[in-house]
Amino acid sequence: MRTCAILNMKGGVGKTTTAINLSYILATSYQQRVLLVDADGQANATRALLPGENYDGLTPLLSGLASCYDEVIAHTEIPGLDIVPASNSLWQIDLTCITGHGHNTLRALRDMRDAIDEDSSYDVIVIDCPPSFSGACVAAIAASNSIIIPVLPDAFSAEGMEDLVAQIDGVRKLQPDVRIAGCLINQFHRSDVVLDAEEYLRESSPVPVFETVIHRTDKVLESTWAHQPVLLWSPRSSAARDFRAWAQELVRKEALCNGR
Ligand SMILES: Nc1ncnc2c1ncn2[C@@H]1O[C@H](COP(=O)(O)OP(=O)(O)O)[C@@H](O)[C@H]1O
Ligand SMILES: [Mg+2]
Repeated sequence: MRTCAILNMKGGVGKTTTAINLSYILATSYQQRVLLVDADGQANATRALLPGENYDGLTPLLSGLASCYDEVIAHTEIPGLDIVPASNSLWQIDLTCITGHGHNTLRALRDMRDAIDEDSSYDVIVIDCPPSFSGACVAAIAASNSIIIPVLPDAFSAEGMEDLVAQIDGVRKLQPDVRIAGCLINQFHRSDVVLDAEEYLRESSPVPVFETVIHRTDKVLESTWAHQPVLLWSPRSSAARDFRAWAQELVRKEALCNGR
């Protein structure tokens, strides 16, 4: 069982898009039993995959109020894909961490991962992280084997990479096995500045850069209005094709999907 966190402290880089589409591909094309954990209080992944609003989800899990992980899991309409929904009460978690009562919070997702591993109830956990180094984010890193960093082809993303690696390193005492699988260039399109940014990232990034890039297309924006993965909304779009190719690269490089 593998746990992948989709992480970047910057917002708007494609974390949620990547988390939703990776989860969808692993469940439908690779027949994996996937648990998507929405660790962002903005609950974008939750809203994309579940009807209605106002789920408790992750908050009781991180605050120790849920006695078992299956109390906080919801089924999506996609076969093989379940979700731990986010709730906007996730800010309470940070308050307990700040006041020093959050010790178990930081290990809560790791404990859930271990319980899932023991029960053999899922094959892959994908965690959609918030754009901040919050309690939920640290808990996500502490539960993960592989970290995937979506980036935009801009200087802010490229220059922020060293800091991000240092932050992830800081969590290693909770999870020594965590490694950065790579950064995924999103919103790629043919223009001089984007090609230069890609070259810069491939030459100077402190972490591996995936060979596959995800093209920018309005089909991704449309898929948010349709509350669907772009793979489902527009399977022949460039982004859908890219996500399929990238998932294949990831599965190969990270030895995901063993045994099924
Ligand atoms: N490849 C893409 N092409 C076009 N729009 C994209 C692409 N990837 C993400 N987006 C859009 O960019 C915005 C931010 O993406 P999102 O996945 O929510 O980022 P994050 O979770 O990092 O904040 C969303 O409106 C999303 O639909
Ligand atoms: Mg997001």
